[in-house]
Amino acid sequence: MSKRNILITGGAGFIGSHVVRLFIEKYPNYNIVNLDKLTYAGNLENLTAVENATNYTFVKGDIVDQDFINALFEEHQFDSVIHLAAESHVDRSISNPMEFIQTNIIGTVNLLNAARAIWGKDLDGKLFYHISTDEVYGTLGETGLFTEETAYDPRSPYSSSKASSDHLVRAYHHTYDLPILISNCSNNYGSHQFPEKLIPLCINNIKQGLPLPIYGDGKYTRDWLWVNDHARAIDVIFHEGKNGETYNIGGHNEWKNIDLVHVLCDTMDELLGRAAGSARELITFVKDRQGHDRRYAIDASKIAKELGWKPSVTFEQGIKETVQWYLDNEQWLDNVTSGNYQSYYQKQYTD
Ligand code: NAD
Ligand code: DAU
Repeated sequence: MSKRNILITGGAGFIGSHVVRLFIEKYPNYNIVNLDKLTYAGNLENLTAVENATNYTFVKGDIVDQDFINALFEEHQFDSVIHLAAESHVDRSISNPMEFIQTNIIGTVNLLNAARAIWGKDLDGKLFYHISTDEVYGTLGETGLFTEETAYDPRSPYSSSKASSDHLVRAYHHTYDLPILISNCSNNYGSHQFPEKLIPLCINNIKQGLPLPIYGDGKYTRDWLWVNDHARAIDVIFHEGKNGETYNIGGHNEWKNIDLVHVLCDTMDELLGRAAGSARELITFVKDRQGHDRRYAIDASKIAKELGWKPSVTFEQGIKETVQWYLDNEQWLDNVTSGNYQSYYQKQYTD
């Protein structure tokens, strides 16, 4: 297997840490540099399994700083980038959009500029792989699926900033021939997810006997994919994807929020040995998210047909394993929910 010199951005976050671990363990002759600003969402505890690997380097830094990014590319002469660093939580984008504009748009252009500058016209074996979201396609009614041809219609500051970055990545491909790939994935769940997102937030609250805040009528629908399967898809696309293409990734696994939370409640009752039905009593309907997208669902037939990828676990297996991970890793959960998490939670759910 050929050597690669890869920059992974956002590798200390939820999905990024799964990608870093997968690449370090599967490809010992790839050099991996993980660049992460370590915002509230970045956590080096997610990477203890690989921190001493000889093919791994961690760099703390900000993709918004163009001079720093240029120097990093100069120093390491990357041949590939897998770009995951982003502000990723929709609710935070509603209360503070500018962070999202800076990191998701300016940060992405800075990386594109640095790649262009260092690669020049020697584009053989080079790749800029941008990780994006299904939210760029907007919202669906009761039926239909997002395909790679669905017109962009982002509706939150988060999804608009991701859509913007997707457009810029494509623009650098069309204008400057930069070799690129983009994938747009549905909602991920699994270990190491920061408990501001629905699933780990509910797991943490059930554990502590706190209310489970359900926005609006609870009938908003998401298509859930196990994070390990997203990391596998990123591996396949990185190695087999066709230059310039976009691939949608999804679990064919749609759940209304309230039904999903019922599954979580029942799984937690079972694993904690609590009385059946006790966690469901914590469910509390709260004020809706502003501009809340009603339904997302991905048509993942292109990646299945062209690259042979499909999810490896059923939702029942994935969710049980996920809940068990949070129960087994109490210290991780306690560490990430101390400090600033408390003030965020207070502001989001009680102010
Ligand atoms: P996350 O919030 O858990 O992690 C983001 C990481 O980026 C953190 O480690 C953070 O420290 C780092 N980061 C943030 N700003 C930075 C900056 N300016 N410079 C350097 N590093 C910075 O996010 P996630 O859920 O793992 O998502 C990763 C990527 O996947 C994002 O691009 C997101 O849009 C995309 N995505 C997420 C999902 C999902 O369900 N979570 C689904 C589809 C696509
Ligand atoms: O679709 C992919 C996207 O999925 C990613 O691009 C985003 O980075 C990721 O955060 C996720 O966005 P969502 O907004 O769908 O995820 P979240 O976990 O925040 O919410 C899932 C659903 O649950 C959504 O309909 C809002 C609802 N919700 C969420 C929270 C945090 C609640 O009802 N109560 C809550 O407290």
